[in-house]
Amino acid sequence: MADRDTLLKILDLARWAPSGDNTQPWRFEIVSDTHIAIHGHDTRDWCVYDFEGHASHMAHGALLETLRIAATAHGLEARWQLRTDSRDSAPVYDVSLSEHSDIALDPLLPYIERRTVQRRPMRTTPLTAAQREALAAAVGADYQLQTFESTAERWMVAKLLWRNAYIRLTCPEAYAVHREVIEWGARYSEDRIPEAAVGVDPLTASLMRWVMASWSRIEFFNRYLLGTVAPRIQLDLIPAMACAAHLLLRPKAPLVGVEDYVRLGEAMQRVWLTATSVGLHLQPEMTPVIFRWYVRAGRPISKQAGIDDRADALTGMFERMVGALPEDAFGFFARVGVSQRPGARSVRKRLDQLWR
Ligand SMILES: Cc1cc2nc3c(=O)[nH]c(=O)nc-3n(C[C@H](O)[C@H](O)[C@H](O)COP(=O)(O)O)c2cc1C
Repeated sequence: MADRDTLLKILDLARWAPSGDNTQPWRFEIVSDTHIAIHGHDTRDWCVYDFEGHASHMAHGALLETLRIAATAHGLEARWQLRTDSRDSAPVYDVSLSEHSDIALDPLLPYIERRTVQRRPMRTTPLTAAQREALAAAVGADYQLQTFESTAERWMVAKLLWRNAYIRLTCPEAYAVHREVIEWGARYSEDRIPEAAVGVDPLTASLMRWVMASWSRIEFFNRYLLGTVAPRIQLDLIPAMACAAHLLLRPKAPLVGVEDYVRLGEAMQRVWLTATSVGLHLQPEMTPVIFRWYVRAGRPISKQAGIDDRADALTGMFERMVGALPEDAFGFFARVGVSQRPGARSVRKRLDQLWR
């Protein structure tokens, strides 16, 4: 069977899976030559975006899918099972590896390290038929892929994201997260998002850094200096128009337990790697989906007056835009397009920092 060296190579590649704010909510354990345990955790205790740990569960799915793809390089089939006695906040995934003479190299293998988020404007060159087909095939049978491509559709999304960003930028619980997850002055970050990958110009970045030093500065800036306008133009309005399309993955069945979100994360990663393979960059736009999870579960997002009413209105706008009912599940929302490779990105913790 596979030796320890092979398992290390597989995990070394798998750790390039994406996670919300590059939190890498996983630790690895090699149990035997045929068994790897992935110990997941989540960030719901400090991150408002990790609603009930679901963004982390999606990241676990991305990791497991990347591990599966990486294993094919060694003729191995990787299958996982959620350990039955594990808690939602600390799910353990037992991955069993078996050798098969006929296992094919997964075509997404070369894109694992190349895949990265692009938060800056992309070209508006429309999707080709081949790109559209590849993306639709990547989602698999359990999801429907809805695309928003025309100028009018992208403008609708831009308006949605404009309103969404106002919530993000005026919500103290979100501020507490933004303060933690940006590594200022950096082009690469092992455990956060480097400043240069946030998607704003250096002047706006310096201003953001100064303003984000305290919540009272943010409040003052927002109230008297239209503080949300510049970042919303650069981070939401322009990128929403400057892309080929927005994609919404809609699960055909309701998302109920941890496993449903893990499966969603697997599909997300297949779509992201496939986008990379057909020459597209991608940026997740998960916050309107996450705010809707709160709203539809009847759970408050913030202690700050007005935030939950705004999230409620945003959810209605989102549902009308995509033609959905309140009970319909939304999974993954993202923009895609052709662009240069980003000059900055999140990198990863070293493998030796990821042992349990
Ligand atoms: C579940 C999930 C949600 C994410 N949501 C967003 C988002 O709303 N906006 C964004 O710009 N990036 C989002 N990201 C991208 C991550 O910040 C990014 O993948 C991570 O920092 C690692 O960077 P890399 O993808 O370039 O390797 C999300 C990623 C995942 C897995």
